[in-house]
Amino acid sequence: MQTLLVTGGAGFIGANFVRHVLAERPDLRLVNLDALTYAGNLANLEGLPQDQAERHRFVHGDITDPDLLAELFKAQAFSGVVHFAAESHVDRSILDPLAFVQTNVLGTVRLLEAALGSWEAGGRPDDFRFLHVSTDEVYGSLGAEGRFVEETPYDPSSPYSASKAGADHFVRAYHRTYGLPAIVTNCSNNFGPYQFPEKLIPLMILNIVEEKKLPLYGDGRQVRDWLYVIDHCRALVTALEKGLPGETYNIGADEERENIEIVRLLCDLLDRKLGREPRSSRRLIRFVADRPGHDRRYAIDAGKLRLELGWRPAYPFEQALAETVDWYLDHQVWVDGVRSGEYRKWMDLNYQARETSKAPNPPEKESA
Ligand code: NAD
Ligand code: TYD
Repeated sequence: MQTLLVTGGAGFIGANFVRHVLAERPDLRLVNLDALTYAGNLANLEGLPQDQAERHRFVHGDITDPDLLAELFKAQAFSGVVHFAAESHVDRSILDPLAFVQTNVLGTVRLLEAALGSWEAGGRPDDFRFLHVSTDEVYGSLGAEGRFVEETPYDPSSPYSASKAGADHFVRAYHRTYGLPAIVTNCSNNFGPYQFPEKLIPLMILNIVEEKKLPLYGDGRQVRDWLYVIDHCRALVTALEKGLPGETYNIGADEERENIEIVRLLCDLLDRKLGREPRSSRRLIRFVADRPGHDRRYAIDAGKLRLELGWRPAYPFEQALAETVDWYLDHQVWVDGVRSGEYRKWMDLNYQARETSKAPNPPEKESA
């Protein structure tokens, strides 16, 4: 039986990936290395059926720790690495860029070093894969037209996207220089179960339920291209199995929406589900200080993944969004668990930064 090393498998996408692979691939074992930062949560991995839990080993540790990595790679020969571990929130990167350099750049290079050493010691097997999970944000901001393709030049705007861009370059350099069979995937914005409620969709769901204000940055007309997290996981399995070393694959589902449209959709969905007056939650929308360096529009062309590897998204957007809302409504214990003192501290800090921001802002106004 083959074993994959997954990093960051207690976070949002990583935990969904771990659950998906354990359920769909009884031929695979996973070792899951995660530092359990504020975004990592063992509750994301609770309730695995016995036969799946037996194929999953959790290791609490940091990808920047070379001794731990050497120990892990010495203890067994992995058939591949799927690298999710990262600091992932743009707003946090603006307040603390060095944490992003540390994990996203240095951590990735340490992981590459350990994987390379083990791959060479094992006779450079052709079927080994280092799959680096990255973001479309490395490409920067689009205007009204066009979509990101794999050849789009990198032009990151935030410390988060700059650190992911740095990591992507190192992964490609390890392929070109040392031959490590590495693949990079650049994916659009994900949503779904287990997403930490600092990100747009879960934050808005929980605020609507509790009738709190819904802060939209700037004019709320920025566009993101949304993908259900399970479709991302399916794409990663496809890239792992069929992708060619040295290649990059963009992942996205052609579901562009303005932020305000997403928030209104969530308001109306929850009004229906909670038996509230139709459209009543929209009154909670507030336009607040914009994010500095805020990218206007992202849109992914995933044609290469579709045509060359045969992947297609399987979940219609509106249905997946409604199921995500149901998941948050049905998992109050999980929600209470992640909204600890640390979470509240962050929300206060973020709102304070926005109130004192010097960035040019439209006047604060109520939503129509
Ligand atoms: P997340 O913040 O929910 O989870 C990150 C996980 O990494 C957490 O479990 C955390 O504990 C762990 N981690 C952080 N630093 C670590 C370290 N030094 N050592 C070991 N573990 C560490 O992030 P996510 O949204 O699940 O994103 C996962 C990956 O996918 C990231 O690399 C991100 O850049 C990429 N990505 C995310 C999206 C998205 O929309 N969320 C889109 C495209 C790509
Ligand atoms: P986010 O979920 O942080 O993802 P990313 O910045 O990686 O795309 O934000 C998605 C979009 O929503 C982005 O344009 C910023 C915006 N946004 C708000 O308007 N208000 C919020 O409270 C948050 C968290 C995000």
